[in-house]
Amino acid sequence: QSPLPSPIDKVPRYTYTNATTGNSIDYYEIDVKPFTQQVYPGLKPANLVGYDGMSPGPTFRMEKGREAVVRFKNHGDKDLSVHLHGSYSRAPFDGWAEDVTKPNQYKDYYYPNHQSARTLWYHDHAVHHTAENAYFGQAGFYILHDPAEDALGLPSGPKYDLPLALSSKQYNSDGTLFDPKDETTSLWGDVIHVNGQPWPYHKVEPRKYRLRFLDASISRAFKLTFEADGKAIPFHVIGADTGLLTKPVQTSNLEISMAERWEVVFDFSQYAGKNVTLKNGRDVQHDEDYAATDKVMQFIVGKDVSSQAGNGNLPSTLRTVPFPPKKSGIDRSFKFGRTGGQWTVNGLTFSDVNNRILAKPQRGAIEVWELENSSGGWSHPVHIHLVDFQILSRSGGKRPVLDYEKEALKDVVLLGENEKVTVIARYAPYDGVYMFHCHNLIHEDHDMMAAFNVSSLGD
Ligand code: C2O
Ligand code: CU
Repeated sequence: QSPLPSPIDKVPRYTYTNATTGNSIDYYEIDVKPFTQQVYPGLKPANLVGYDGMSPGPTFRMEKGREAVVRFKNHGDKDLSVHLHGSYSRAPFDGWAEDVTKPNQYKDYYYPNHQSARTLWYHDHAVHHTAENAYFGQAGFYILHDPAEDALGLPSGPKYDLPLALSSKQYNSDGTLFDPKDETTSLWGDVIHVNGQPWPYHKVEPRKYRLRFLDASISRAFKLTFEADGKAIPFHVIGADTGLLTKPVQTSNLEISMAERWEVVFDFSQYAGKNVTLKNGRDVQHDEDYAATDKVMQFIVGKDVSSQAGNGNLPSTLRTVPFPPKKSGIDRSFKFGRTGGQWTVNGLTFSDVNNRILAKPQRGAIEVWELENSSGGWSHPVHIHLVDFQILSRSGGKRPVLDYEKEALKDVVLLGENEKVTVIARYAPYDGVYMFHCHNLIHEDHDMMAAFNVSSLGD
């Protein structure tokens, strides 16, 4: 077993003043380039392509209200596009799938950072090649902080606030990474990684930690439990895709599917000198299981606490979540299905360029969208760009709206087998054409993706 890697923090190259607004803009550069990682001792290293030659890429740490420009330079041999997942970026900077940066080109992306504190992630979005690019390494954290969250006294800093990117991959017998490019249904993978390392361990102190989970897998969902001495330990969910919940929600298992972020406060204080294992369920969403896909990582709990900062009682309320005002009825319905061997939205594919704008919300409108899984035993985590939504209902399958989902604003929601979910959002703040799609990236590439056009005109 190897230790848990913690991605390094990205620092700006310089700061300049926007001549029009007078605001400071931090300027960053990322080199997208090939690198290798020795996964199996004695075999060939795995061949990867990542942000600054690492995976996960370096972590951006942003303060609300401080704008940023990031230049992504393509030193690889494939087209790329970068999406900052969780940001209401202007359409030209949102990673539109066909807005690709070719090898030896670069593109500057502008990020407003005006949203409230949240865990975002940046990842590839190149048309029909997103799965390969993300799987070979193009994914990283982007964490937005704000004063309201900082004032809550949650566990913080590099020691007690840990970003944990889960992923699941498959290797060839020579040690290189299996290439998912010819897959058309799913690539579940038999090797579970956290921050790029298979089944790592991490030494912790017997106190509270904030754990920011991201499922960066291309096809695998997880049901996480923490276990010691064979028993599941309860913990608190405090945050979701778009930041803090209204209040901490206690649970003993956490469902997380592709692109979702769930944040947890876990208290190791009762386990000094012991090991706490982070486990995954079996047959989660019918994903294919292998010998060790029920294990994720291990926490080795020490005996001493070096700081009590952020180790107090959790606040009973975390924030006033800006849920959209209630509204009845359904404005639009979308079926995520399978048609003619392709994954489709309302029977259509993203390649059908004249029929892929499926909605034209008026800017500022509150809309209820019904998302239905009509593909049988498959599941689809659906991501809507630009907006934060509330899950209103889930029906048709086995799962209700989960307790922690009720307290959250989200940007991805899982449609399990036969499930139908309704979500409400305000289609704002910007005009533009944005994507929505399944975040099983193999489905997205083949071709379960569509678009909506926000404007002052509406339908
Ligand atoms: Cu996380 Cu359209 O993507
Ligand atoms: Cu899907």
